[in-house]
Amino acid sequence: MFNRKSHWEDVYQNKSPLEVSWYQKAPTLSLDLIESSGVVKSAPIIDVGGGASLLIDSLHQKGYSNLSLLDISAAALGCAKERFAALDAKDAVEWYEEDITQFTASHPYSLWHDRAVFHFLTDPVDRTAYMQNLRSALSRGGDLIIAAFALDGPTKCSDLEIVQYDREKMVAAVGDGFEFIGERSENHITPADREQKFGYYHFRYI
Ligand SMILES: C[S@@+](CC[C@H](N)C(=O)[O-])C[C@H]1O[C@@H](n2cnc3c(N)ncnc32)[C@H](O)[C@@H]1O
Repeated sequence: MFNRKSHWEDVYQNKSPLEVSWYQKAPTLSLDLIESSGVVKSAPIIDVGGGASLLIDSLHQKGYSNLSLLDISAAALGCAKERFAALDAKDAVEWYEEDITQFTASHPYSLWHDRAVFHFLTDPVDRTAYMQNLRSALSRGGDLIIAAFALDGPTKCSDLEIVQYDREKMVAAVGDGFEFIGERSENHITPADREQKFGYYHFRYI
């Protein structure tokens, strides 16, 4: 039977973070959306399923001071922790080794970022759990930035089926209580030089 945690631990144990298809040298669009949301630098921000992504480093460099990184894989978190340890800044981040479908936040967040995590939830039960946890964690007025493969993007990632989204599908998935703010698209080029089409959706929790 498929074990989500083992799958992701294997991925990060067997590949360098620079080789995985979702690797970005610079998470430009995520940063742009976070900055343009107007979230203040001291506000609590969580990168859900952030893995070994450099987004958390970029936010730290830009002066965002209340950062959390959550991932199901200890190996992925280990990569990010090593980078922060090299800066003597390991304590600058709250680290959560958890499955997002089972996550209970210990404090509210002003911004929730997810690039390419929610789209792995092919079971509606998991999607409902994710959305419940998001609603419990996000403050009213908080921002949700969620990126998923577009309808003309890949149908699989990391050998797993995913759910593709466009704006209408994401609005329906996120559900009532979220105001749609905007969307952006990205043609992500993988380290193997393949194109992957993403949609990034910005919502405010009202
Ligand atoms: C495609 S990668 C994207 C990583 C990162 N967001 C980025 O854009 O570079 C998916 C990440 O989500 C994590 N992940 C997958 N399912 C998860 C879950 N249910 N809960 C928490 N993390 C999960 C994986 O370990 C992996 O790091």
